Amino acid sequence: MRITRLRGFQDIIGPSAHTVSCVEHAARRVAELHNFSEIRIPLLERIELYQRSSGETSDVVEKQMYAFGDRDEAETVIALRPEGTPGVVRAFIEAGLDRSDPEQRFYYSGPMFRRERPQKGRFRQFNQFGVEVFGRPDAACDAELLIMIDELRRELGLELEFQINSLGDSSCRPAYRSALLDWGRANLHRLCRDCHERLERNPLRLLDCKVDAEVTASAPAIGDYLCDACRAHFSTVENLLRASGVRYSFNPRLVRGLDYYNRTAFEVVSGAVGSQSAVVAGGRYDGLVEALGGAPVAGTGFAIGLERLALALEAAQSATYPVPVVVLAMGNDLAAQASSLAGSLRLKGIRTDLLSPERGLKMLMRRADKLKARYALIIGENERARGVVQVRDLQESKQQEVAFDEVVDHVAAKFAANPGSADGGCSLQPANIDKPQAADAQTLFRDATRKDILT
Ligand code: HAM
Repeated sequence: MRITRLRGFQDIIGPSAHTVSCVEHAARRVAELHNFSEIRIPLLERIELYQRSSGETSDVVEKQMYAFGDRDEAETVIALRPEGTPGVVRAFIEAGLDRSDPEQRFYYSGPMFRRERPQKGRFRQFNQFGVEVFGRPDAACDAELLIMIDELRRELGLELEFQINSLGDSSCRPAYRSALLDWGRANLHRLCRDCHERLERNPLRLLDCKVDAEVTASAPAIGDYLCDACRAHFSTVENLLRASGVRYSFNPRLVRGLDYYNRTAFEVVSGAVGSQSAVVAGGRYDGLVEALGGAPVAGTGFAIGLERLALALEAAQSATYPVPVVVLAMGNDLAAQASSLAGSLRLKGIRTDLLSPERGLKMLMRRADKLKARYALIIGENERARGVVQVRDLQESKQQEVAFDEVVDHVAAKFAANPGSADGGCSLQPANIDKPQAADAQTLFRDATRKDILT
């Protein structure tokens, strides 16, 4: 009997895994450019961490946790992390940074686990790339996070919609909460069964309900209840976004499913990934460090759903060439030359596949087609003797003979107008291989009889 994977868990294979890595790589680059540094935190934490931060009444804690007892410590219940923020805050406090050096910027990347109902874009194990900033209560920091997401969006060449809202703070939210409670009780007969429960436990979540969206459209809006300080904070965020050219819309119904947020909250949505459209989400959580036993230090951050953003990227990039170049050697005698040529191309950041020298031209061309290669570089005995390479454009069905010494620059120039296409349509940078290897390629090509390279 075959053993299959669990429901909601996925194997991400080949090009799809590559796309996820590309998104992660681009996010890491943007975060590093903004002077974030990496933090690696455990996958398992005590369940109380999530109960006290994400919120006892949040869906994540109430319904979606993978939690189990620890065999060694009977009373300890441990949970697979459903999100990164609580663990990062715990680590920040545990390292004493909240008191010794509270202004910190961290990024993290890795798997999260939520026992949700699986559907397109919603998995039980998924990867988040998240950032958390501590010690920055200012609106400029919230704006910077949104600007970072916009930079990533541009780097990936995606259209995404930014939605922002303010959730107020401890001085103005209680009044809003009680207005919402009054409204909900008066409209109970119009609300779904789930909302009856939400109303008593966490009335803000009424605004999240898809079933009751029409009914809750007439519910009080948080914007009308914000105190002056929250209003000023939000308008500074808006002004900075406008000044930076980040296009956004104000969504007064955006409340977020986790309890720790205050003031700025946001979601970034893609139209290309179906109903699970939020590809990035985050906001400010100024009370969380203190709620978890630390000093009163402000926090703000976001997390990208890497698989969701990758789905959006795949939907937008159907015409890319996963392997821009294949190199074909016509026989084992030319394998070393082909390998060196492929090495030189890779040093230029061109993703290159070296095909088996033990197959005939017809089979090799079929393989190149299957790989959706843009260019095939062909080296036969005849080419070697004349110091040339055949460069076949597989999209336009044209072939050209290029001197071996010039072929790498020739191919690189073809990708110059659209640099992203050289590495398969993504922004993964070429590996940092020692340059001298490339120079050897030309010598190797001319001297096909050198025993040390052929055996
Ligand atoms: P979240 O909205 O729960 O926020 O998740 C952030 C992102 O993770 C979502 O927008 C989505 O792209 C992705 N995501 C969530 N659940 C799933 C799932 N089941 N399958 C696939 N992707 C999913 C947080 O987790 C907060 N910790 C974000 C944050 C960081 N706020 C401040 N700092």
